[in-house]
Amino acid sequence: MELNCEETVQDGISRAPEKQPFNWMQEEFISELTSMWLYLEFAFAVPKQVYEITYFGQKKDLHRQLLCHAIHEMRHAEMLARIMLKWGGKPKWQLSRLPQAESYRDFLNAAMSNEARNLESYQLRDTEVGDHELKVLLANLLREDNAHLQVDQAIQQVLTAQGVIDGPLPPPRGNGQFGEDIKKLEQAAWLEIKSISRLIYASLLLGMDQSIAPRARALAIEDMQHLNRIAQEITTTGGRLTIPGEVLELEESDDFAKLLQDVIGLKNDKVRTYKESKPQFNVPGGGQLLGTLLAKEEENIVDLEAYLQSLKQYPLTVH
Ligand SMILES: [Fe+2]
Ligand SMILES: [Fe+2]
Ligand SMILES: [Fe+2]
Repeated sequence: MELNCEETVQDGISRAPEKQPFNWMQEEFISELTSMWLYLEFAFAVPKQVYEITYFGQKKDLHRQLLCHAIHEMRHAEMLARIMLKWGGKPKWQLSRLPQAESYRDFLNAAMSNEARNLESYQLRDTEVGDHELKVLLANLLREDNAHLQVDQAIQQVLTAQGVIDGPLPPPRGNGQFGEDIKKLEQAAWLEIKSISRLIYASLLLGMDQSIAPRARALAIEDMQHLNRIAQEITTTGGRLTIPGEVLELEESDDFAKLLQDVIGLKNDKVRTYKESKPQFNVPGGGQLLGTLLAKEEENIVDLEAYLQSLKQYPLTVH
């Protein structure tokens, strides 16, 4: 029988199965990122220090717990992407609209069905893959997403017992009284979301690079904290932060210098919008918050410009 040299390498190991992991890893990468944004949007719908769940005998604030889930999901996406990059693939950022949620039950159903879907896929893949690094990753993804599912069930019980699981959530723009304030905060939040996505993606494309990737990731986490503060201010003002699909989109690029450049552009936009809208708030808290974030953004722009400068001086390639 003739060997097909495109499919077979000299040691006789078929190369074809290696193409397969990229497809499902790409799907899982997107699924994990979707879970991350979904948990964030859920967290934004839950006021701080109102609901408590018990986990391993410890009391946890529900709002905080949901933020923790989101960070775990970000890490899951990153770990999958790193293996893809290591094997010569490139994760694609193909996020679409999040499931619509009108109640806590809707959020929980969406989150739990995503977890269940991931668990099923990881179980299946575990039987198919031979690579040790990927097997260790799958074992840990299974354990952590299973823990999320358990916690989600505990959350469901708490919210049911409190009688709020089906209750309507605050309308995104509130009852209209402070709609203009909420609109400004929403604009600020969307700029944060865009810069979080780009910073995560830039840090992923830099692969195992240790000179900039960890810094980009740290800045993504910092913007996530800003986002949470803005979302909390929207809650205080009577509204609720929702994340439209188009805000999650990102133009595919191999060029992380361009991604960093985009983040600098977004941060400059933030500084301009924050400065313009700060004095126009009816509820002073919103303006004060944007003032605090403004100073942080100005500092981060200086850092990012320095990273960009160093990349121009010593160009890196995608790993
Ligand atoms: Fe996950
Ligand atoms: Fe999960
Ligand atoms: Fe920020």
